[in-house]
Amino acid sequence: MTGFAFEPNPTPMSVNERSGLLADPGFGRIFTDHMATIRYSADKGWHDAKITARGPLTVDPATAVLHYAQEIFEGLKAYALDDGGIAMFRADANAARFRKSAQRMAMAELPDELFVESCKQLVLTDRDWIPNVDGGALYLRPFMIASEVFLGVKPAAEYLYCVLASSVGAYWKGGARAVSLWVSHDYTRAAPGGTGEAKCGGNYATSLVAQQDAIARGHDQVVFLDAVERRWIEELGGMNIFFVMADGSLVTPPLGGTILPGITRASLIQLARDEGLTVREERYAIEQWRADAESGALVESFACGTAAVVTPIGRVAGPGYDFTIGSGGTGQTTARLLARLSDLQRGRAPDPHGWLQRI
Ligand code: PLP
Ligand code: COI
Repeated sequence: MTGFAFEPNPTPMSVNERSGLLADPGFGRIFTDHMATIRYSADKGWHDAKITARGPLTVDPATAVLHYAQEIFEGLKAYALDDGGIAMFRADANAARFRKSAQRMAMAELPDELFVESCKQLVLTDRDWIPNVDGGALYLRPFMIASEVFLGVKPAAEYLYCVLASSVGAYWKGGARAVSLWVSHDYTRAAPGGTGEAKCGGNYATSLVAQQDAIARGHDQVVFLDAVERRWIEELGGMNIFFVMADGSLVTPPLGGTILPGITRASLIQLARDEGLTVREERYAIEQWRADAESGALVESFACGTAAVVTPIGRVAGPGYDFTIGSGGTGQTTARLLARLSDLQRGRAPDPHGWLQRI
């Protein structure tokens, strides 16, 4: 299969209405005029690739995804560069992770070239939707659902792959500030052998009650501990985590099957090592975090992900404890890594690893 058919949106949003929306986009509420779709069936393989007007999907109530949640997704950004170009950040890594998620969920595997091409075609079509605000980007949301109409419990024989583009600004309301975390000792996110390292909707569905609990207690985000010993820090509901020690080294939980292998995480490990910093991928316990924060052995912590980029952590609480990280604000290493990553993503700094794909 080659090429994407193009069916332009017959009623695109007016320029005036769009620029009004793009002045203050927030996160995940503004969608562009088009979407990309590709279908899969066991007999035809991948077919019917197109860019069409964004609009509702019509699904039969017996469609498999509605019953057994065979669904995966990705999140990546396209940026407007200072020189007028546009680039996607590490789309090949998202393509590879999407295939791994598909394997875990017994779904058809989309070839990486189709994943990257679908994102590229959509960005080129809706390039005028990239907001010119601080942190502005097109957030791409590729996802795939089991579209076979069948109630038997088995891997579907038909899939619908779709990419949406959303004009986004900063993820956090009120801009960049250090966030406060609640450590859940009641709920876990993923167990060994489960789906923790897959980016499947089910992982997010089960995290919502824990996130709701964190918000109800006055915090921004939940932190999950491992499901076996309930002491090793894993990740947040939608971000990985790093710890910055007083000796300048960094620690981040290892990828062991239960956490999402974040592309921002991998990029920051590389950027930190490029600077000569030591980064250890090793387990770090909640009681150690508290002791190290209180003794000064740990000076900063931050969360990271495509949506949240690099977000400083100021405060951490759980049942019976509540501690501050460093001064409770943004630490030096956190600020520097955020600047290095954002500058690279926007083409304002060299890209020695070839992470930007100009389109
Ligand atoms: N962990 C979870 C659970 C996530 O949803 C995300 C977001 O995609 C991340 C980590 C960070 O991954 P990435 O840096 O690839 O966006
Ligand atoms: C992303 O960072 O891309 C995610 O999927 C996280 C989600 C909370 C928006």
